[in-house]
Amino acid sequence: MKISFAKPDEPRSGAVIVGVWEEAMLTPAARRLDEAAGGAIMRALSAAPRFKGKKDELLPIVGPANLPVSRIVLAGLGKPDLGNARLFQHIGGNLVAHLNGAGEREATIAIDVGEGAPIDQTEAAAQLAFGARLRAYRFDKYKTKQKPEQKASLEGLTVATPAPGAAERAYQPLDMTASAVFFTRDLVSEPSNVIYPETLAAQAGTLTDLGAAVEILDENKLRKLGMNALLGVAQGSARPPRVVVMEWHGSPPSGGGNRSQPLAFIGKGVTFDTGGISIKPAAGMGDMKWDMAGSAVVIGLMQLLAARKAKVNAVGVVGLVENMPSGTAQRPGDIITSMSGQTIEVLNTDAEGRLVLADVLWYCQDRYKPRLMIDLATLTGAVVVALGHHRAGLFSNNDELANRLIEAGKAVGEEVWRLPLDESYDREIDSDAADMKNIGSGRAAGSILGAQFLQRFVGDVPWAHLDIAGMAWSSKDTPTVPKGATAFGVRLLDQFIAQHYEME
Ligand code: BES
Ligand code: MN
Ligand code: ZN
Repeated sequence: MKISFAKPDEPRSGAVIVGVWEEAMLTPAARRLDEAAGGAIMRALSAAPRFKGKKDELLPIVGPANLPVSRIVLAGLGKPDLGNARLFQHIGGNLVAHLNGAGEREATIAIDVGEGAPIDQTEAAAQLAFGARLRAYRFDKYKTKQKPEQKASLEGLTVATPAPGAAERAYQPLDMTASAVFFTRDLVSEPSNVIYPETLAAQAGTLTDLGAAVEILDENKLRKLGMNALLGVAQGSARPPRVVVMEWHGSPPSGGGNRSQPLAFIGKGVTFDTGGISIKPAAGMGDMKWDMAGSAVVIGLMQLLAARKAKVNAVGVVGLVENMPSGTAQRPGDIITSMSGQTIEVLNTDAEGRLVLADVLWYCQDRYKPRLMIDLATLTGAVVVALGHHRAGLFSNNDELANRLIEAGKAVGEEVWRLPLDESYDREIDSDAADMKNIGSGRAAGSILGAQFLQRFVGDVPWAHLDIAGMAWSSKDTPTVPKGATAFGVRLLDQFIAQHYEME
């Protein structure tokens, strides 16, 4: 789908989309189109009393006989004072889904927000285009028998706006964001026979094209570093593990202070999680191909920072392993010595993400002395029980960091909800045989115990953990995310960085 911006003009063909505020209040472009169409819009509104012009509502109208357009679609804009970036992303996304469903090939969006709207016309145009592109994502490379009606029909989308050049410029960074989101979605969607530690590392290696430094640590190196917690997870698999370190140096050298210290992003990259010897049930196990989503988000985020030349120093570190049962696999009860020197009794080989992250977090804080560390992981099924598929779990040892993440999440529509950490939970992972065990004694507070485990490896660095198990994959379409891999976290962290660490 090609997206372009053009001056408002009489649409010549395809679909035309105009906006309607709540209580069926036509925008100026909608009013003009209604006149040109001989009152067809007002007639459609009275014939469809359930269309109120609320946000996320669409009302399709057959193209009137006196105009060359195939159809008119009225898009609900909600209350005039609530027009924000997210609203226009949603409209763009909803329209793409609607028009593809209707088999439309070409469309012009002519939504003029009018005087006094909280978002200006140029920004609204860019956000419409962004939402449209995000929703148009498909992962269909393995479908060889798609019928024409199953393919996307929409080939061209024009956003009509008084200043197309300015809208194009406002869209540029959003377009880069969408590309990074798609990179992450592709990595997460690929099956585990295609994406495994070596191939995922190679994908991260492509960031060198954008000027990032990428270092791939192989098994020998990991052994020398003493990453035995990570290696223990990997030892049952025929696929050797990798740790990838991606550095982006974008902070102006004059910065001084702690500005040159990087922000650090850490990702769980279990390319397939069978559970190991503590094997998972067969039903739904295929989902565990996306147990590397945290790492894919970090890779996509680093790609975006490099692509848009972010004025910040950042490092991404991902731990890539496959968790398999075999004759060489780790056994429940095994005790390993992590890179930090702390010993871990592995009582459940399915609680493997925390073992991988333990060494990667320790390595990251030890090597980089980062300003802060944020890890992303599909860590626990328990977070899905607690928060469902609407918010990721947030854990942090730092209130300012936690609040910044909560705010950034609200701004981009990738929301997080903070859950507690404290000593009483921490004691539950003390082990009789080692410094700690990798699971608690019962099923209570599963996500918190996972986070407490990680906290034992972060030292005193400001740190946040995002448990994205409920958010990495969606079984339903939403306005800007088609079902499947979501890339939850890329936009959240990009916003977090842009808002707090590039302006200073
Ligand atoms: N990768 C899973 C968590 C998960 C579950 C992600 C569902 C996405 C959807 C993780 O490695 C795991 O198996 N966690 C265990 C921990 C338990 C053994 C303490 C879990 O949640 O059951
Ligand atoms: Mn597991
Ligand atoms: Zn896992």
